[in-house]
Amino acid sequence: MTFTKTKQAPAETLKPERIPAADPPAALQPTGARNPLSEPSRPESSPPIAISFDSFNAFYGDYQAIDQINLQIPSKQVTGFIGPSGCGKTTLLRWINRMNDIVPTARSTGQLHLHDLDVLASSTDVVELRRRVGIVFQKPNPFPKSIYDNVAYGARLHLKLTRTELDALVEWSLRKAAVWSEVKDRLHKPALGLSGGQQQRVCIARTIATGPEVLLMDEPCSALDPISTSAIEDLIFELRQQFTIVIVTHNMQQASRVSDMTAFFYQGKVVEFGTTDQVFTCPTEKQTEDYVTGKFG
Ligand SMILES: Nc1ncnc2c1ncn2[C@@H]1O[C@H](COP(=O)(O)OP(=O)(O)OP(=O)(O)O)[C@@H](O)[C@H]1O
Ligand SMILES: [Mg+2]
Repeated sequence: MTFTKTKQAPAETLKPERIPAADPPAALQPTGARNPLSEPSRPESSPPIAISFDSFNAFYGDYQAIDQINLQIPSKQVTGFIGPSGCGKTTLLRWINRMNDIVPTARSTGQLHLHDLDVLASSTDVVELRRRVGIVFQKPNPFPKSIYDNVAYGARLHLKLTRTELDALVEWSLRKAAVWSEVKDRLHKPALGLSGGQQQRVCIARTIATGPEVLLMDEPCSALDPISTSAIEDLIFELRQQFTIVIVTHNMQQASRVSDMTAFFYQGKVVEFGTTDQVFTCPTEKQTEDYVTGKFG
């Protein structure tokens, strides 16, 4: 069995003239923060590396979950992490924005860089790192607040915007997350009153509203129906123009549809990393072939 990579048109096509342009004055922004309303253009040549793991190992106590990983994740592309349960996909993702800092037994060795930033250095500002690297989890986790306040939450912390600018940013983020039309008449109602798929898209809107460079998605569609899944895949396809995206998925069709690059993990190691077409249609490793064709996992 082989997979053909097909790209779909985004479900909700954004019309640039409808995106409110309201960059806050640079002087009002904290260092490094940028208003996501200003979209950089997609580079023509091969993309630079956004995230780099060099001889990276990760442990929980004595247990080694990640074993000597060298992996370069390209900027402004979608990289899929695939592999059987327990092979370390979530662990690796959580190191990128230092989520494992809250796990007392977790430690790592080796190097991990986000562009020039030494992610693991004790001097690294973790709050700023997490603004640059947003994460969306398998289970939607909206705050017990209104839809508007969920999306505005990070912007209120990191950007000093007027009410008009904040309104524009909330609308822009919800449009980007392909959920605006479903929530625009109930922005001040609780986010927890939405369906699971809508909650997940509101969580994505909340994540992109602070203008991250990297979007980490850990099985973002695993609890969603096919229509919501399709909306999120369209969204990923669109967002890759602006963000570096890493998505963990157990769905091989989804990985082949949305990812430019694919990394196959097994027992804490990267067995194979290449373009999605290559990994799915002519893998160099037998383990990869067995996994993508459903012989194990
Ligand atoms: N907090 C933790 N404490 C101890 N061990 C952990 C912890 N989190 C994960 N592990 C172990 O680390 C290994 C890798 O787990 P991880 O969650 O990264 O796998 P995964 O590839 O994301 O799996 P899945 O596809 O099931 O989500 C597993 O053996 C897991 O049991
Ligand atoms: Mg996982």
